Amino acid sequence: RVLAGRPRDLAGRHVVVSAGGTREAIDPVRYLGNRSSGLQGYALARTAVARGARVTLVAANVSLPDPAGADVVRVESAAELREAVLTAATAADVVVMAAAVADFRPAARHDSKIKKSDGEPDPIHLVKNPDILAELGERRHAGGPKPEVIVGFAAETDDVLANGQAKLARKGCDLLVVNQVGPHLAFGTPDNAATVLVAGGEPVEIPRGPKDDVADAVWDQVANLLRHPRT
Ligand code: CTP
Ligand code: CA
Repeated sequence: RVLAGRPRDLAGRHVVVSAGGTREAIDPVRYLGNRSSGLQGYALARTAVARGARVTLVAANVSLPDPAGADVVRVESAAELREAVLTAATAADVVVMAAAVADFRPAARHDSKIKKSDGEPDPIHLVKNPDILAELGERRHAGGPKPEVIVGFAAETDDVLANGQAKLARKGCDLLVVNQVGPHLAFGTPDNAATVLVAGGEPVEIPRGPKDDVADAVWDQVANLLRHPRT
């Protein structure tokens, strides 16, 4: 499918998309990471460019070619991703948090490589990372005008709708795209399927299809909110 022929309904808008998965350093050669490929986030960036947006793509450890026309900021850890997203968000109309952000990080990063020694290693003590999506929501709640639309992603395995609704409310975002995790779906696959939960509205089903189509369906919902702001 060609990228032409889309509505230019994001023209004049600045959108920030985070993609990929963060890595939390244990020592200079090891990290805690996750399985996010960045494919859905890159599809969101690519389709937003095609719909006329100025796009800042904050990419965490993604090995995909840069989408043409997007400004790409590369980050590694949740702390770096937070800094890049919050900075870009001050001037953005829309922020989409498609990145898989580590909930925890090692409390301390060893300066030198942990060596295999006799016996068992010391346990890795974890501390909580800040919740970037919740921070964006709080900042706006505190009187900030932007971003106008905040979108979260969630992969749920159980009680998908109930967990998703609770998460939407907790994070103070406008849309929560709940991925269906299942056989041949989500991580690293070309296809996706999702339910978009809308604050104060009815859920919208996105049928299984290529990640570009899922991205377009998300932008349809975003453009709708930009046209009809909730006051
Ligand atoms: N997120 C974030 N900062 C974090 C963790 C998550 O901004 N420290 C964002 C993700 O980018 C995603 C959304 O929050 O858009 C939901 O992430 P998810 O992991 O599903 O939610 P959590 O609140 O971390 O809850 P849990 O992992 O326990 O389900
Ligand atoms: Ca999480």
